[in-house]
Amino acid sequence: MADKKAQLIIEGAAPVELPVLTGTVGPDVIDVRSLTSTGHFTFDPGFMSTASCESKITYIDGDKGILLHRGYPIEQLAEKSDYLETCYLLLNGELPTTEQKAKFVDTIKNHTIVHEQLKSFLHGFRRDAHPMAVMCGIVGALSAFYHDSLDINNPQHREISAHRLVAKMPTIAAMVYKYSMGQPLMYPRNDLNYSENFLHMMFNTPAEIKPISPVLAKAMDRIFILHADHEQNASTSTVRLAGSTGANPFACIAAGIAALWGPAHGGANEAVLTMLDEIGDVSNVEKFLAKAKDKNDPFKLMGFGHRVYKNFDPRAKVMKQTCDEVLGELGINDPQLELAMKLEEIALNDPYFAERNLYPNVDFYSGIILKAIGIPTSMFTVIFALARTVGWISHWKEMIASGQKIGRPRQLYTGHPQRDLPR
Ligand code: SDX
Repeated sequence: MADKKAQLIIEGAAPVELPVLTGTVGPDVIDVRSLTSTGHFTFDPGFMSTASCESKITYIDGDKGILLHRGYPIEQLAEKSDYLETCYLLLNGELPTTEQKAKFVDTIKNHTIVHEQLKSFLHGFRRDAHPMAVMCGIVGALSAFYHDSLDINNPQHREISAHRLVAKMPTIAAMVYKYSMGQPLMYPRNDLNYSENFLHMMFNTPAEIKPISPVLAKAMDRIFILHADHEQNASTSTVRLAGSTGANPFACIAAGIAALWGPAHGGANEAVLTMLDEIGDVSNVEKFLAKAKDKNDPFKLMGFGHRVYKNFDPRAKVMKQTCDEVLGELGINDPQLELAMKLEEIALNDPYFAERNLYPNVDFYSGIILKAIGIPTSMFTVIFALARTVGWISHWKEMIASGQKIGRPRQLYTGHPQRDLPR
């Protein structure tokens, strides 16, 4: 992979030759691992120009708006695959055969129930706690129940932990929602598919078991696919860093959930709906765009912009199409969707956004669909965490298998030089 060289000329020091590594596709990287021998570090807060690892899972081209999972375009997976097949692909590197898919689906089905004592964990939280706070706590606590699969160097333990997490996240997410509503918790059912089961646990009650709408189940499944993985984003990088210390997979995923919660990351879907509520009417759009452009105003246009995509986020396009399908099939005329479309149109024609390549991202439309499905805004990031768990655990498995050393960045120190205590 290292067939090119980069030469670094540092004033007052001998030139340094660094290998340039080439991947399958995408930018080459300058391998700076030997740089410390020159007494220098690289400096890249926010990792704008840093490749933190080698990976085969997901490829993004931000300029062309391309997103591939193990080489397959997200548009094709969203249209022709389903979430559990996408999970298998992300975890194992190839699409499953019919038999492999059936076995995987069956395995996941048989891990959907959580330990009965986890219910008592819920009762330690206030009913009005933010669902993401409860999610962090419950998932972190899973390592208190699964002592039989915490040896991260054992491939079987890694596999069963991956299956347990993919299987239990919908159950935990629904528990978190039901607890906040003061409703009885619903057990998973093996006669329903993954997304139907989630909607069953969310919206059915022991008093009445309604059939799950295939339209809503399909929309839910597609939302899960669109959120499954996204290269080395902040929460995935958090999971990789936590995993590099040897922490157990449940603790690593809890760390990823915590990182995802931020409004600049996975919390944006909730923030988009809150923003649309604040804007209220298309007549206020210009006022809010002015706030977004004002450097003295912390307001950002939520659901717009992306660290990598300087073109349309391909997921946003599929999400918008799904939005139209779901609202059309449900006969919902959502004024927030109308407002979102007007906001998008006006922003995309505004030089500030055009010059900065700020386009709608995955979060811009997802909230509209989640709301149409009946999911409250406070649960939006929980849904994101549910879907992204497979991406996090795929990267965790890849990092462990690569034998990566503990992640430990250095710094540019600008504090006090050594000084003595004045006594
Ligand atoms: C996700 O990384 C991933 O892959 C994440 C994700 C995933 O699947 O894991 O895709 C999911 O997190 C999507 C992003 C969701 N977040 C939001 O929608 C929040 C709003 N967006 C911004 O906070 C922002 O766009 C970020 C955080 C997403 C990206 O920020 P960057 O890469 O640090 O870009 P930047 O802040 O350097 O912006 C460049 C310029 C700046 O202006 P100037 O200093 O050049 O004048 O664009 C401006 C920014 O002020 N800008 C915005 C803006 N986003 C960037 N201005 C107004 N509104 C915005 N939304």
